[in-house]
Amino acid sequence: MSNSALIKSSIAKKYWMALTGLFLCLFLVGHLLGNLQLIFKTGEEGRRAFNEYAYFMGHNIFIKILSYLTYASILFHAVDGILLTIQNRKARPVKYVYSNPGANSSLPSRWMALLGSLILVFIVTHMANFWWKMKISEEIPLHTYYSQTAKDTVYYTLNKKQISVKDIREKGKIEGEKIFYSAKKFNAYLENEINQEINKARNEAEQTGQNINPLDIEKFKTESMEKYSMKEDELIDEGYKDLHTVVMQFFNKDKNPRAIFYLIIYVISMGVLGFHLWHGFASSFQSLGLNHPKYNKLIKKVGQGFAVIVPFLFAIIPILIFINK
Ligand code: HEM
Repeated sequence: MSNSALIKSSIAKKYWMALTGLFLCLFLVGHLLGNLQLIFKTGEEGRRAFNEYAYFMGHNIFIKILSYLTYASILFHAVDGILLTIQNRKARPVKYVYSNPGANSSLPSRWMALLGSLILVFIVTHMANFWWKMKISEEIPLHTYYSQTAKDTVYYTLNKKQISVKDIREKGKIEGEKIFYSAKKFNAYLENEINQEINKARNEAEQTGQNINPLDIEKFKTESMEKYSMKEDELIDEGYKDLHTVVMQFFNKDKNPRAIFYLIIYVISMGVLGFHLWHGFASSFQSLGLNHPKYNKLIKKVGQGFAVIVPFLFAIIPILIFINK
């Protein structure tokens, strides 16, 4: 590639990196505001609020589109960053002069690729822990609570119905967030109930010396099954995935022996994120051509404020969960 073509493609890469980077900053603000509910709202109230929020985030079409844009931006930002780093190294006739590092670029910008890669590792492991459980695997439990009125533990559902956990264990099934009466399980339960009725009638007949015709028993059984059995599974309602409990237990030292390890990883990662944003925020305005001598100082200060406040607030969440439990 000629030198001018190289510069052109490098400028285009920087432009897209800046655009995706600023979009990811917006994502961070939204994600932070959602997560702060974990520490500002406590008890059952907090659990409900957070699980309802997570449900909304997973079902609203506009939010879903934003989520896909976020995934695409992370991938694009990372790949573009790696390509840009390789391109810059190739274009540089002399490798970094380590004795005089400032000669080529500012210190943070040379660290951007490394910091970015660490953040990518964090995001991948972070999504494996929470996002995967919420969106892909079925292992996440639904939100349940003890209800005095139901005198049982009940599922907390979308339409505020109270569905007994015991009932679902015996006659129902859960797929993702959906709670069903399972025809197979219900019919087995029904057959068992009918058999018990028959046995009771037999015992009573024996005691009074009466005879019951076996054909009558069969007829009663067949008719009852025909009348009351379920032909197909029936959707009862949707429950909330209990993401709140998953996050709380993740950082809870009494429930998770690895909580201290996760806490340290999270706090260090937020430090790394802070350094990345310290340089990246203001630099993206420059790459987009949005810099102006009059506002450059302000943009830099806002960027530095963002780089400190946002990662600090993110880090405080697992710290507070850890020390409160
Ligand atoms: C320490 C504070 C944090 C907590 C407690 C937290 C918690 C969560 C949870 C519970 C989810 C799953 C949400 C869902 O699938 O509905 C999630 C998703 C995600 N998190 Fe975090 N997070 C934190 C910090 C971060 C940071 C700093 C980043 C980026 C650098 C990040 C990036 C993501 C991404 C990209 C997703 C997927 C979002 C989506 O599906 O739209 N998180 N986080």
